[in-house]
Amino acid sequence: MPVGAVDTTYSRFAADQAYVQANEAFVRRLPIESCRRVLDLCCGTGAVGQIMMGRAHEASYVGIDLDPVQVELAERNFARLGFAVRRILAPDVAAPFPPGRSVGLIVGSATDLGFPDACFDVVNISNAIHLIADKAGLLSAIQRVLSAGGIFSFSSGFYAGCWPPVTQRVYYEWLKEATAWIARESAERVARGEPPIRRQRGRSQLSPVAYGNRWLDPAEWRTVLGEHGFEVRELAERPVVFDRESLAKVGSYSGLAEAQLAGYPTEIAAQALDATAGLALQSAGVEAVVHNWIEVVAVKR
Ligand SMILES: C[S@@+](CC[C@H](N)C(=O)[O-])C[C@H]1O[C@@H](n2cnc3c(N)ncnc32)[C@H](O)[C@@H]1O
Repeated sequence: MPVGAVDTTYSRFAADQAYVQANEAFVRRLPIESCRRVLDLCCGTGAVGQIMMGRAHEASYVGIDLDPVQVELAERNFARLGFAVRRILAPDVAAPFPPGRSVGLIVGSATDLGFPDACFDVVNISNAIHLIADKAGLLSAIQRVLSAGGIFSFSSGFYAGCWPPVTQRVYYEWLKEATAWIARESAERVARGEPPIRRQRGRSQLSPVAYGNRWLDPAEWRTVLGEHGFEVRELAERPVVFDRESLAKVGSYSGLAEAQLAGYPTEIAAQALDATAGLALQSAGVEAVVHNWIEVVAVKR
């Protein structure tokens, strides 16, 4: 990594204590001890999948993510835990589980599931359902691949009600501070005879809809799930506290940087958010923010 650059993968935030503890608490909710076939949509680095596999001692796991870099990291992370990891390529999607306990990873879309009907007893999507524009398509696809009585679970920090007013203020300050940071950086570059940093109005490659989707509130989630044949067993909101370090880590993640500061080069946006997390908290006069997470456990009717 060049000097001064930040790690823009999800790895930094995935290892953040506040995030890890929130994910562990979520997974403790899931009745997965005796499940055998887990599908983890938008698996990223496998942060939540690994916690699930630590509880589901007999399960095999399939993780899917659009981003080959995250899948590569997931491969390494699962291998480090001693799992034999394989890539599942198109023809093998029809029979995703070899004999024995296995971890399979796919670079692909969460809404384009080529698996046979009813071949999973758990489908999970952590910290990502807000990124999927076509909720109806997603829920129908999950219904099809889930066995009767199977578990569908998700957690997300982006839904209507996730930000208490102080948190909204901090995030607003953060964007202002980060934009000012980029302007200063750009001016310094120009002073050195380098080209300025330009913002190109465009769309993010990985998550063009990250912030464009309407966020559902908990009651709407209950309704949508009911309409798609799921019975909600648990729906809860968890307050997660992020201090400067946690914010800096999530800010440096390219997925967030691209969404928050769309159009700037991702590396620059990530550096700016990393560098200004403390200033945002300071401007709002707080040392940490509460960011609520929604956690849902539903069963296929
Ligand atoms: C915030 S990360 C969450 C990763 C992981 N589930 C976790 O909780 O640590 C969101 C992930 O969703 C992936 N993603 C976004 N849209 C997707 C889609 N339509 N299909 C598959 N993956 C997607 C991104 O590449 C990214 O790795």
